[in-house]
Amino acid sequence: MTTAIQCEHDLFCGVNTPRDIDNMTDLEKKHLPVITVPKSVKKDERFEVMIEVGKHMAHPNEPGHFIDFIELYADDTYLARLDLTAQMTQPIMRTWVCLSHIHDSLRAFAHCNIHGTWEGRAKIEVLS
Ligand SMILES: [Fe+2]
Repeated sequence: MTTAIQCEHDLFCGVNTPRDIDNMTDLEKKHLPVITVPKSVKKDERFEVMIEVGKHMAHPNEPGHFIDFIELYADDTYLARLDLTAQMTQPIMRTWVCLSHIHDSLRAFAHCNIHGTWEGRAKIEVLS
C-alpha cells in the first residue's frame, strides 16, 4: 500500500502566493512582488511597470539570503526578466511595456534562494 505525499508546506514546490492579501504573514510581506501599473492603458502605447519585492516588509539582501530574479508576464506571456546579486542590487524592477490586446493581469514572479518562487498580480485593462 502506498500513501500520497503532500508538499503543501514546501516553499520550493510550485509558486507561493499570500493566503489572505489583507492579512499577510511576515514571510508573505517579505516575498510578495508588488506590481505598480495604471489600471488601464491604451493599446500599443508604452506604460511603466514597477515591481518591488519587500515593499510591505524588507527582504534580507545578503549572500546567504536574497532575491535572485524577478520576471514579468502578461497572463502566460513572458515579457521581461531581471537577474540580481546580493547586497549590491535591490529587488526592484522597472521597465516599459506595450500591450496590443486584452490581458487579464500582469504577473510578477520573484525567486528567493531560501524561500522559493512568489507571485504577485495586477489587473490591467487595455483600451482601444
Ligand atoms: Fe527569503
